[in-house]
Amino acid sequence: MTAPLRAAETTVRVALAERSYDIAIGRGLLSGLGHRIAALRPGAAAAIVTDETVARHHLTATEAALAAAGLRTTRTIVPAGEASKSWPVLERVCDALLAERIERRDLVVALGGGVVGDLAGFAAAIVRRGLDYVQVPTTLLAQVDSSVGGKTAIDARQGKNLIGAFHQPILVIADTALLDTLAVREFRAGYAEVAKYGLINDAAFFAWLTANWREVFAGGPARDHAIAVSCRAKAAIVARDERETGDRALLNLGHTFGHALEAAAGFSDRLLHGEAVALGMALAFAFSARRGLLAPAEADRVAAHLAAVGLPTRVSEIPGDRPGVERLMELIAQDKKVQRGRLTFILARAVGQSFVAHDIDAAEVRAFLSDMLAD
Ligand SMILES: NC(=O)c1ccc[n+]([C@@H]2O[C@H](COP(=O)([O-])OP(=O)(O)OC[C@H]3O[C@@H](n4cnc5c(N)ncnc54)[C@H](O)[C@@H]3O)[C@@H](O)[C@H]2O)c1
Ligand SMILES: [Zn+2]
Repeated sequence: MTAPLRAAETTVRVALAERSYDIAIGRGLLSGLGHRIAALRPGAAAAIVTDETVARHHLTATEAALAAAGLRTTRTIVPAGEASKSWPVLERVCDALLAERIERRDLVVALGGGVVGDLAGFAAAIVRRGLDYVQVPTTLLAQVDSSVGGKTAIDARQGKNLIGAFHQPILVIADTALLDTLAVREFRAGYAEVAKYGLINDAAFFAWLTANWREVFAGGPARDHAIAVSCRAKAAIVARDERETGDRALLNLGHTFGHALEAAAGFSDRLLHGEAVALGMALAFAFSARRGLLAPAEADRVAAHLAAVGLPTRVSEIPGDRPGVERLMELIAQDKKVQRGRLTFILARAVGQSFVAHDIDAAEVRAFLSDMLAD
């Protein structure tokens, strides 16, 4: 079978009035990056920010795509990993943008996963009081989640993502072929966020994933479809609630339990973010079942799919020391989703029927977690 010359492309619009933008999704879109940027911002220079790993795989092709449209480019390469979402690296990036004479009519190209997207997006938000930027996400997590919605940040000593800004990109190019070089463990972790959209409000998508997840992992049209559905879901939620005063909190499904477990594991290789989210979603559904909101079989169906993909669904699957219930409760209480002493959780009445529950009693969560930790 010969590959089509032009792969299918899907466009998802993020509708935010004068801050609206397109997400283009498809295999091989990177080669058109320069022409798209030139069409949006004629004469702009493009300052690429990327990490060492992504640079090794995809920087040459990115620079070639920009040069093909006659754009002046600069490059700033930061170390791979969460530690780059820090003041010293932010300073380096800002400094490089100024030294390279990137001005208000130019733009930043964030080429990488969520770390580069958050870091470069934040630098773009503050350099010269705000530069335009384009997201070129290279991880599954970044293509379906972090590159869409305009949240940018670095980490503080006090916690993750505490220094940042809402700053929407002017374009997102999700070239799904870039994921071919991604480690399967990273792809799988990103898949947890894909499944999340089904669990939030799209039961048919979750059913489709249950039947087609192998093709999503393999690449090809099923992967593109899953990414497009995910982006559409996130775009719709962001358009309704750009600054997370209401509905956008649904995107935190699995994240309250997940963040606590991720923090307890020291934000390390023991538990990647998406793995923590998978575990957190399994717990959120189990907790919903325990509260009588949904049938236990429905919670089991969620855990069964995540486990089939190879994601963790039980606390005992985290390698190393098991976190204690007191430590987890402390971490949950510190979570920013606590409002006036009551815990906020995203719970579910069924697959595809998640909702924000504001009034959850901490004692009930503690009892539930004790049981889960004994399991
Ligand atoms: N802004 C948001 O709305 C939002 C949402 C979710 C997560 N995030 C943030 O995203 C970050 C996590 O993002 P991530 O999971 O993409 O991590 P990441 O950016 O660290 O990427 C994971 C690893 O994969 C490597 N990599 C990236 N693309 C590759 C490719 N195509 N081929 C080979 N290797 C590649 C990276 O170098 C890195 O080592 C966290 O900091 C999180 O806070 C932000
Ligand atoms: Zn997440």
